[in-house]
Amino acid sequence: MRIKINGERLSDELEQLACFSDAPAPAVTRILYSEQDLKARDFIKGLAEKAELSIREDALGNTFFRLEGSDPSLSAVATGSHIDAIPHSGRYDGTVGVLGGLEALRALKESGLELKRSLELILFTAEEPTRFGVGCLGSRAMAGTLSLKDILELKDEDGKSPDEVRREAGFKGELEDVQLSQNTYHAFVELHIEQGPLLEQKNMPIGVVTAIAAPSTLHIKLEGEGGHAGAVLMPQRKDALLAAAEIALSAEEAARTSGSIDSVATVGILDVHPRAVNSIPSRAFMTLDVRDTNLARRDKMIEDIKEAAETITADRKIKLTLKTINADPPATCSEHIIHATEAAARNLGLDTLPMVSRAYHDTLFMARICSVGMIFIPCKDGISHRPDEYASPKDINKGVRVLAQTLADLAS
Ligand code: HGY
Ligand code: MN
Ligand code: MN
Repeated sequence: MRIKINGERLSDELEQLACFSDAPAPAVTRILYSEQDLKARDFIKGLAEKAELSIREDALGNTFFRLEGSDPSLSAVATGSHIDAIPHSGRYDGTVGVLGGLEALRALKESGLELKRSLELILFTAEEPTRFGVGCLGSRAMAGTLSLKDILELKDEDGKSPDEVRREAGFKGELEDVQLSQNTYHAFVELHIEQGPLLEQKNMPIGVVTAIAAPSTLHIKLEGEGGHAGAVLMPQRKDALLAAAEIALSAEEAARTSGSIDSVATVGILDVHPRAVNSIPSRAFMTLDVRDTNLARRDKMIEDIKEAAETITADRKIKLTLKTINADPPATCSEHIIHATEAAARNLGLDTLPMVSRAYHDTLFMARICSVGMIFIPCKDGISHRPDEYASPKDINKGVRVLAQTLADLAS
């Protein structure tokens, strides 16, 4: 039985979704709980209602679209991803997994295939760390790896907690009810753009993810002494920015000398106070994103960077405050889902490439409560988190067909 994907409809919906943005096209900015985020959610809920899927929202805004199976006693098979987008990024990161997942459910519904297990499409809240500093807020809470206390302690730039903002955004219900039990789902499979160049370089249509790299985020505060840029001589200076600069270079050094190409470290945010041309920075704040596919190597990098930061700030007589926001273990995808995905692709005449995901995804946390798998499709030049992020309708179509077939196999 051929499962028919309506590629036209999907491309059109991806274009419409990209318009819900706080940045001019082709860039997309869609921050958690912003007006554009809420409008985008309404757009997707409208499509799901048209497809006669039942809809449930939890207290954080994780949204569940359900297609009932024939045996309600069996746990569901789920798919899904995110629609929030970091500032000035692209239109395919996450959205391919949400609208592609919706298209897979619609195609399976229209195929008349008998599915024993129900299917659920999950729109995860806050996969990106932009607003509250930690990524995968929704799936962490669903997996119980983020306690209520942790959630309430997170603050956005206005000092508001996720609980305050989610209520203002109209999400009801108790945070206590967000966590899901271990056997809620039989399997979870996420479709996502690769956010790397491998599939395109090897001319492969489908990536089958075997593991997801271990992410971590550190916040570093540096307090020195400000002063007049002309009057304070160099030996007397306690320049917070220069300490930050040295620490940033030590992070790059730790990643470059770790012994593996899989080690990465990034300073994505660096704020300086008072940020005036002729005033020595008295304070600096920076974020550090450190990842590796190997947990021990990732933790060793963090240790090396912490040590370097202590030496640098001692030499420069700068006060250092270093906080680890998250340091998560890597996740491994389950054999049976990897095999089901490979078989589905083969069935459709598509080659597959086993690969590691260097980006993190909600799958990283869904792995704590069920068996997981990920399907990658190529993105042009491996570009992501940039306005020129691009995945072709043809590649998206292939990914959705493999997803639909995999879901059908796992659910029957
Ligand atoms: O940063 C990541 O890996 C993901 O794209 N949020
Ligand atoms: Mn992303
Ligand atoms: Mn993503």
